[in-house]
This record gives sequence, C-alpha cells and structure tokens, in this order.
Amino acid sequence: MKLIVCGKGGCGKSTVAVLLSRAFARLGRRVMLVDADESNMGLHRLAGTAPAATLLETLGGRRSLRPQTSGQLGEACRLFYDQPFRFEAIPDACTPAVDGVSLLKVGKIQHFGEGCACPMGGILRPLLANLQVDAEDRVVVDTAAGVEHFGRGVDQHADIIVGVIDPTFESFKLAKKLIALAEGSGTPFAFVLNKADGRMRAGLGSFIDPAAIIGEIPMRDDLFSAGLEGRPIRIELPEVAQLCRRLEAMG
Ligand SMILES: Nc1ncnc2c1ncn2[C@@H]1O[C@H](COP(=O)(O)OP(=O)(O)O)[C@@H](O)[C@H]1O
Ligand SMILES: [Mg+2]
Repeated sequence: MKLIVCGKGGCGKSTVAVLLSRAFARLGRRVMLVDADESNMGLHRLAGTAPAATLLETLGGRRSLRPQTSGQLGEACRLFYDQPFRFEAIPDACTPAVDGVSLLKVGKIQHFGEGCACPMGGILRPLLANLQVDAEDRVVVDTAAGVEHFGRGVDQHADIIVGVIDPTFESFKLAKKLIALAEGSGTPFAFVLNKADGRMRAGLGSFIDPAAIIGEIPMRDDLFSAGLEGRPIRIELPEVAQLCRRLEAMG
C-alpha cells in the first residue's frame, strides 16, 4: 500500500508520516518512508535514521537525469523510469533503517542557483508508479507543503491520499481543494486532524464531509518537543494505531 501525506506547511505532515510509519512497522509491515520534501532537511532526525545520501545524489545528481530528455537514461535512472522494480533495487546507501522503517530521501535543494525542484518531482512519479509492493508493504510519502505533487501527476500512483488538517482556516480551505485534486487523480483520500482541537470539526463542516475524517491526533507536548529539538519520535499513540487500521481497511 502506498500512502501520500499532504497538507499545508506546518500542519504536521512529517510528524504524522513518521508516526504512521513507525506504527505500521510495529504491526509487522515492511515500511519505506519517502521524504519527498526537497526543502526540509530534518525528516531523518524525526525518523531516527542515520543521515544518508539522497536518491538523486545516488543516481548521479541532476546531470544524470538530463539525458531523460533525449531518451538515453543512465543505467541507474532507467531502473526507475522504465520498468517495475522492487524495494531491494534501491541502493542500500540511501535507505538507512531503524525499527523496521527505511527512509528514502528523494532529493534536496543544496546550493544557491542549482535549479528548480523538478528533478525531484521527476523521480518521485516513476518511483511511486513503478515500485512493486507486497500486500504487507507500506510506502509512506511525506510531501512538501502545498499541492505541486498533484500538478506533477504523482498522486495517481498512490493508493490513498492522506490529508493532514491542523486547526487553521487555511488548512480547512486547502482540505476542500485537496478533495477536488484527489478526485482529479482518481485516488481515494482520507483526512487526519492533527493538533486536534475540540472546536475544529464545527468549522471544518462547511469545507469537507466529516465522513472523510479517519482520525485525530491531539496537540501533544512530547511531539512538539521532538520537533523543537530535532529528536526521533518514539511515541506510541493508540490514535495512530487506529489510523493505521483504518487506512489498511481502505486499501
Ligand atoms: N500533534 C502535534 N502536537 C504537537 N506539536 C505538533 C504536532 N504535530 C506537529 N507538531 C509540531 O508542528 C510543527 C510542524 O510539524 P511538521 O510535522 O514539521 O509539519 P509539516 O511537515 O506539515 O511542515 C513542528 O514543530 C511539530 O513538532
Ligand atoms: Mg514536513
């Protein structure tokens, strides 16, 4: 099952992606957490994995992707673009693991003026499309803020789009837009209320159907502290275990 976690900047996508990944691993699933945010540098800290090269670096960097336009991909890149492949085909060097969760960083903007993030998006789509997963495998994609991945046609290759909503009007508005985009991609979607506040549902009601909400994660000091200090999230929450079960029931 492939999940793509999206939502407004700061709503808690990375936090929720790590919580879900670790909870799936506790259920015995093989989990790959994919860091598809080309800007943020710290997902490996929250996940607790060792720092590692990105997939883009491992494939040879931006230059290695350039031949894509002429149809002459390097050997490594061809793997991802042209044919189905399995977890094992991804170089170990860019998939450090901890507690049953492997983290794969797609690519990061590192230098001033290096170019746009299109190569990262350009890898993510075939990665998600061609990666062959077993019934017990869970791929959890943590995206950058906003909706660019929809524009790039990534989401149609996920099994479920998980929209994270925090208690802000902006987040509510984006949730409504996410539904329209998800419907365009033909991919089922579900929402998680994060930093949940008792007043949220009343406000949200005019934006989305409450039936699309599959769970809530409260505002918690331990989660906030992990984010503040860049520490691994090792917190086990019954709310998250229940979310995993609901997602598996959808998939
Ligand atoms: N349920 C929560 N309770 C407390 N703090 C949270 C919670 N979820 C996220 N945060 C905090 O909110 C901030 C943004 O979270 P993050 O996961 O980085 O969001 P995003 O990936 O959407 O930008 C971080 O400081 C994080 O620690
Ligand atoms: Mg994030």
